[in-house]
This record gives sequence, C-alpha cells and structure tokens, in this order.
Amino acid sequence: MSIDMLTIPAQCVTESRISQLDINNIEFGKLFSDHMLVVDYKDEAWQNPEILPYGNITMSPATSALHYGQAIFEGMKAYKDANGDILLFRPLDNFRRLNISAERMCMPAITEDIFMQGLEQLLRLDAAWVPPTAGCALYIRPFMFATDDFIGVRPSSKYRFTIFSCPVGAYYGQPLKVAIEPNFVRSAEGGAGYAKAAGNYGAALLPARKMQEKGYHQLIWTDAKEHKYIEESGTMNVMFVIDGKLITPPVSTTILKGITRDSVLTLARDLGYPVEERKVAVDELVEAHKAGTLQEAFGTGTAATIAQIATIHYDNTDMELPAIEGRKISNHLATELDKIKTGQAPDPHNWVYRISL
Ligand code: COI
Repeated sequence: MSIDMLTIPAQCVTESRISQLDINNIEFGKLFSDHMLVVDYKDEAWQNPEILPYGNITMSPATSALHYGQAIFEGMKAYKDANGDILLFRPLDNFRRLNISAERMCMPAITEDIFMQGLEQLLRLDAAWVPPTAGCALYIRPFMFATDDFIGVRPSSKYRFTIFSCPVGAYYGQPLKVAIEPNFVRSAEGGAGYAKAAGNYGAALLPARKMQEKGYHQLIWTDAKEHKYIEESGTMNVMFVIDGKLITPPVSTTILKGITRDSVLTLARDLGYPVEERKVAVDELVEAHKAGTLQEAFGTGTAATIAQIATIHYDNTDMELPAIEGRKISNHLATELDKIKTGQAPDPHNWVYRISL
C-alpha cells in the first residue's frame, strides 16, 4: 500500500485536554497529547491501524512483553516553524532504526506507510500540542511490544505498535556531573546494545541509581571486556572535544546508532571541524584533562539534544571541565542544529519532514 492510499480511521476526542498544558513550564513526559495511533499484528500482518483518544490499554497478565521483554521504542521530535508548519526531524531514520531493533528482538517490521501516515495524521490532529516555544518540542514515542498471552518462552505471534506524543522542554535542567562506570556494563559485543530495546534501559537503572547516590546525574558506560574504553553516557551517545577535535566512539553492536549523534557529526564536518569516530580510552580522557586539552564533553540524544557535561568522575577524582559558555564547538553545533530543526536555516541533508497545515 502506498503512503497516499492509506487513510487511517480516526476516533477523535470530544474535548481536547490542551488547557492542562502550561506552555511556560513544560515538564518532560508527563502530559500526553490527545490522540494515539494503535495497530495490531496478527496472522503475520499488521491489521486495521486506527487513531484513538490517548488512553489506557488493558492486557492479560500473561502478556509476553511483560515477562520476556520483546519491547522496543523510538524517540523523535517535532517543532513548529515561524509559519506554524510542523517540522518532524528525521522520522525515516527513526522508522529504519525501529525495524533494526525489531529484527534484533525477533519482532515483525512495521511498514513505512503505517509509520509515516500514522505520524502525519496524528500530528495534524494534535498540531496544537507542538509547542512553538524556543527550546521546546513535541516528543513522539513510537513503540512496539509482544501481546501473546502465553508464558512459554518463544517469539510472540501477536504485537502492538503504538505512537503517542507529549510536549517537552529540556530533558536535563543543568549541565551534568557524570561518573565513569568501572563495574557494570550496558552492553557487550554480540548483545542487543545497538537496539532500542526496553530491557537495555531497565538494566541501566540500578547502576545509574548507584551513581546518583554518590552525587552524579548519570554514568559513562565503558566496554564490557576491560572497562577501558568509553561507550555511551546514560541514555545518550557521548562526544568529547580534545585539542580542537570532535571525538566520539564508533557505533558498534554495543552502541546505539544515535540520530542526534549522526546529525551532530554531519554538521560538524559541514562546518569544517575535525571529527574522529574512534575508540576513546578512559586513560586518554584523564591524560587530556591533565594536559588541559579536554575542552568539551557532551551527550547527544533525541530527548536531551546536546547535554553538556560539566564534571567527569574517575578513580576518586572529579575532573572539572571548562565553563559551558566558552565551549565553541558544542555550542555552535547546538545552535546550528536547532536552526535546521525549526526551519531557520537551510536543510542540505533533507532531515526535515514538513507537514503544512
Ligand atoms: C531519547 O533520547 O529519545 C532517549 O531514548 C532517551 C529516553 C529514554 C528518554
């Protein structure tokens, strides 16, 4: 079915909840827009997509996703431009990555027409929920989970795919203090670290909480074999500026192929900054900090966009990094990226999917 041919039936709300939204004080992930897309997979096909009022779902206690974790998700953002058009940032990349996660978790691929048409129809219905405010966006959460009510361990034969959304402001309220994790691992080679699988996030909560108890916002994951190389930070990819070069670990089976990561690296190259995708040893960071060449560190992710890192803890020492205001490369990239996303700058890589109302 082509994207033009599918029109998803919609059951619209009789009264919007938008009056509950305080546009000047948007908290991340608490108030959800009026509608959601719902589509079920059975008999080896996605069946009857529909748009419904956002609301609870009922399910059997034996629902297999709850037991064995066949559950994956995506995060993407939509912005408003000066004319009130909705600009979705790189939705096809989220679509592709969802299906990469689906393959790893032995789940069916969602079709491009359901994903894109569902998104577009939802955004048209919930356009009022896309905040026009600088620094805010509509965060969109596509996700898929196994729905067999069966507790034998096997790939489910039934699944649900849903998209819902919520207006968001900043994910982190301040620059981050992070600590390099010397024991726990997020992911090992051959595992599912590159998939946006729910279980990856669940397993990260205890190590993160332990770091929070020591006074750090998040941790920096290291490799599973030696704890010698940097992987990611919390739920974000991580980047450093050392001696004027933007350096980040390469994507692998252990590292999520971040869409913000790719956007930042592409923009950095466009703007002429030296970029290196290569292994980053913890020792290299320590040495660079001692030599005064560790100039910037930040996380990249859809939710957080570019999250500045102020302090990195390792081996009983807090390495304090230069002041955020003076960070030439990351501040420049954050500004330019924001301009593209909100339609204030040309979009040479066709990242923006425009929905004119
Ligand atoms: C995102 O950046 O969208 C993420 O995946 C982080 C999220 C778990 C809040």
